[in-house]
Amino acid sequence: MAYLSTDKVEHHFHDVVIIGSGGAGMRCALQLADAGHRVAIITKVLPTRSHTVAAQGGINASLGNIDSDHWHWHMYDTVKGSDYLGDQDAIEYMCRAAPLLVRELEHQGVPFSRLDNGRIYQRPFGGQSREFGEGGQAARTCAAADRTGHAILHSMYQQNLRAKTHFYQEFFALDLITDDEGCQGVMAWDIAKGEYHLFQAKAVILATGGAGRVFKVTTNAHICTGDGGALALDAGLPMEDMEFFQFHPTGIADVGPLITEAVRGEGGYLLNSEGERFMERYAPTARDLASRDVVSRAIAQELRDGRGCGLNKDHVLLKLDHLGKELIMSKLPNIHELALRFANVDCTRDPIPVQPTAHYTMGGIPTNRFGEVVYNKGRSKEGVFPGLYAIGEAACVSVHGANRLGGNSLLEIVVFGRACGNQVMKRLREHRYHPQLDTESWQSGVERVERWLSAATENRQGPGIADIRLRMQTIMQDHFSVYRTEDVMSEGVQHIEALAAEMEHAVISDANRLFNTELIEAMELENLMSLARVTAAGALARKESRGAHARDDYPERDDEHWMQHTLASIQKNKVKLAYKPVRTKPMTVESFPPRKRVY
Ligand code: FUM
Repeated sequence: MAYLSTDKVEHHFHDVVIIGSGGAGMRCALQLADAGHRVAIITKVLPTRSHTVAAQGGINASLGNIDSDHWHWHMYDTVKGSDYLGDQDAIEYMCRAAPLLVRELEHQGVPFSRLDNGRIYQRPFGGQSREFGEGGQAARTCAAADRTGHAILHSMYQQNLRAKTHFYQEFFALDLITDDEGCQGVMAWDIAKGEYHLFQAKAVILATGGAGRVFKVTTNAHICTGDGGALALDAGLPMEDMEFFQFHPTGIADVGPLITEAVRGEGGYLLNSEGERFMERYAPTARDLASRDVVSRAIAQELRDGRGCGLNKDHVLLKLDHLGKELIMSKLPNIHELALRFANVDCTRDPIPVQPTAHYTMGGIPTNRFGEVVYNKGRSKEGVFPGLYAIGEAACVSVHGANRLGGNSLLEIVVFGRACGNQVMKRLREHRYHPQLDTESWQSGVERVERWLSAATENRQGPGIADIRLRMQTIMQDHFSVYRTEDVMSEGVQHIEALAAEMEHAVISDANRLFNTELIEAMELENLMSLARVTAAGALARKESRGAHARDDYPERDDEHWMQHTLASIQKNKVKLAYKPVRTKPMTVESFPPRKRVY
């Protein structure tokens, strides 16, 4: 067994260590660094390559720049959108904070698009309404053309440079350091130099984004491997509601890149092989701007009924040429470029082939609305895991429940990034010193790397990483897609469990320590595999249809038995499921009770 002594590890001391440099991590870092704390961001990429950069359509806030709007209407839409699985206290908090935080982003330098009167440009997005669904479509999504995430991430990065946040870039987090007092830090690997680094911190924040790469066709970048969730599972903590994986209705067919909902917000629409605007049948009022689960299911149904387009009848068409070149090039320039590059389509003239594509991890590491990681403590109590926090797509707070509204993810990262920063400051007032760590506490991180490298050095034979990853993604795509059934899912669970067992014999061939990307991919695959296991088990167990979890064999929502969150952990290498109630009580307003969802 590998053993690393103190002199072989570089030891860093920070007040706070944030793992992940997307919008959530950077917004949180900014809150803390501006308050004078010593903050480190550990990131496996260059910060501006974090996946927030890919967010396109915008960020929701009831600014009312186009027509009257109110945070309470935004809250109603979000609760309804979540299919009543979202926690209403967290949703109220987020929707109330939205206008303030979007204006703050403007002041922090985000170059929002503008209306003629100089106010921030807002566009309609799916599932948005006014007056609690009675006042027609809202236009609540604040946009920087169709590159809103890019604009936010770059502004956040520059603000963090000003605030003197320490960046450890191209560092891979190996293991959380935990003891009876909670989380004390993290062990990491410097990818470029092939060296171990021990980070001690009074608070550790997981802001590692989603795990879209468990699926084969996804809008997610290769880096979206759910690293924070896997670290939490490894520390014995559960993941919440992982069965709710959002399929974005319009990924480019076959390849996956996102074609923003903003296309439909600006007036684009979907067509089947018969040239029919089929959304009129599924959502007579909102049509193409129904919520994502509804639109994705409608497309999947059209394909099942043989009305798909192309030789394989496996996609539908997104038409936007009627919007005119000027609008497309000013409001949707990125879409124009993506369609050209990935589908060879000039969307000012021809429709874009699209299909539902894995997009967003609505589940994640369970937290309260202060970003503190929570766990079930007995039947009805919830405990806080001291010193450990999670925010953004890595977390499940849960504001999205069973289905997220477009534009609420960029909002979530700034709202809870800031809220978590404020909560961490309280902890820092009480925890002023770093405890002495036992050398044993970081050995499992070392073991994780050395196991792979020794297999390569000894030229051991076994299944390769690329092969296992493709098989895992294919199982998830085939067995846990838009429509699900007992038989198909239970076969999927068996396949995933068998593959996870096979993974224990997997090997890499590159024994180099410097910039060994095969090693990083192997550890990313370990992370993805853990998340695939809990996703599959949670999905099979949930015997109802709700939001993104649509079962042919249980087509109705079952509030009596299933209005509860799934908690899936891995104990002694077996997936264990538990449940906790949905928080239906908001902070100050009346609860929105479950109703039938129609758009
Ligand atoms: O369609 C989009 O622009 C995606 C936005 C989101 O996922 O929030």
